[in-house]
Amino acid sequence: MNATLQNTLNAPRYRNDGTLVIQGGRPIHGTIKVRGAKNSVPKNMVAALLTEEITEIRSVADVRDVAIMAELVAAIGGQVTRNALDGSLTMDPRHIAPMSPDTAAHFSDISRIPILLCGPLLHRFGEAFIPNLGGCVIGARPIDFHLAALKQFGATLEERADGIYLTATHLRGARINLDFPSVGATEQVILTAVLAEGETELSNAAVEPEIMDLIGQLQKMGAQITVETDRVIRINGVKKLRGCVHVALPDRLEVASWACAAAATDGEIFVEGARHGDLFAFLNAYMRAGGDFEVTETGIWFRRSQQGLHPVCLETGVHPGFMTDWQQPFATMLTQAAGVSIIHETVYEGRFGYVHALNKMGANIALRTDCLGSRCRFGRLNHEHSAIISGPTPMQGSHIAIPDLRAGFSYVIAGLIANGTSHISNIGLIQRGYEFFNEKLTSLNVDFEITGRNNK
Ligand code: EPZ
Repeated sequence: MNATLQNTLNAPRYRNDGTLVIQGGRPIHGTIKVRGAKNSVPKNMVAALLTEEITEIRSVADVRDVAIMAELVAAIGGQVTRNALDGSLTMDPRHIAPMSPDTAAHFSDISRIPILLCGPLLHRFGEAFIPNLGGCVIGARPIDFHLAALKQFGATLEERADGIYLTATHLRGARINLDFPSVGATEQVILTAVLAEGETELSNAAVEPEIMDLIGQLQKMGAQITVETDRVIRINGVKKLRGCVHVALPDRLEVASWACAAAATDGEIFVEGARHGDLFAFLNAYMRAGGDFEVTETGIWFRRSQQGLHPVCLETGVHPGFMTDWQQPFATMLTQAAGVSIIHETVYEGRFGYVHALNKMGANIALRTDCLGSRCRFGRLNHEHSAIISGPTPMQGSHIAIPDLRAGFSYVIAGLIANGTSHISNIGLIQRGYEFFNEKLTSLNVDFEITGRNNK
């Protein structure tokens, strides 16, 4: 791993180590602020490589995935200047060069974002080498849609042990259909089609807010993209794109996580920067489960309603459905609802692994392999992708280790609910998607400390 990346990943606020010791059992109250989305900003940065002009991105959160993307751009010769406090980030891609396998090796297995570099690098250099991908272990997470689309654009691919080598003398628009509305594959097609020759038609596309935000940024750069009512996205390739100024999309996943913490602990949290329009499906489920919210000009108040929490039946899905990344914090909140709730996870086949630790703390969550909801892709494949949550169950503090980002936040909620002390290790994984996490716990009057880390 190269020195600067090593330094970044070793920075205390980005390391995965450290243990969060929480004294739970009391409501949390206070105000926090949410900035640019972990699942948006790295894509905004990739889009900035499609031009030889400067791009400025504002309201960028100080999270590990952004830091890794900045290191990746620097490693291929780009200039990235960031101010973690005011959230500004400037991309200067004028001097980037193709990524060598040696450079790529430094970024193996630490993020999923590098796969999205294919289009920009192929357009710029006619070749690209992409390292093996990392990311949360919540299912198989194949990239077959990405590779099939790149071949349709005219790229040749050579899959190697340490990554994928791609070449393309000329990228042409294509008619592409996704078997499943994959967010990443939709981003892959858009980021490649905007400079490809001719028109690209993408059907069964993902239309998450993060996708719309990327399309907005590309439109400012001069791209010609239309989104049709039946989730078909049409892109007319252009010769050249320009730089732009882009304000990052607020992180709707972080907003929902804190909302669940408020209702689960019977507290009240104001989330500054929360955008109502990105949260419709979440707020419908939140209200049905006994959450209460109030939208203001600068953010949203979240609390438990007077009637208390009650059980719901829920199915995750692609936008505009209930987002899979909301599932873990929501399920933890439902352990305190009076009755039996059902959650059917239809996006990732392995996203309930975290419930075993919650059951160790006192939750009563049973997993099933059948579809407890409409028939989905995982129905006959023996994946435990449905959960039955019986509550309310008192939770006792325990020692648990965080396996992935969103499960990590659900463990923090469990620690906040539980009576006594909880030790939650690998707390650094939270920093991948929740900036200034320690400071936020402090502003919410949480009784905690971080141990096992040289520098807080
Ligand atoms: C993005 O992942 C997000 N990550 C995920 O957030 C999010 O859960 C997911 O979109 C769905 O909304 C980032 O943006 C960095 P997908 P991505 O391609 O793009 C199938 C978090 O916690 N699939 O939509 O990798 C496969 O079944 C993370 O912030 C293929 O079959 O998601 C997969 O389960 C977790 N072949 C499903 O689509 C492919 O080539 C969803 O994947 C691609 C996808």
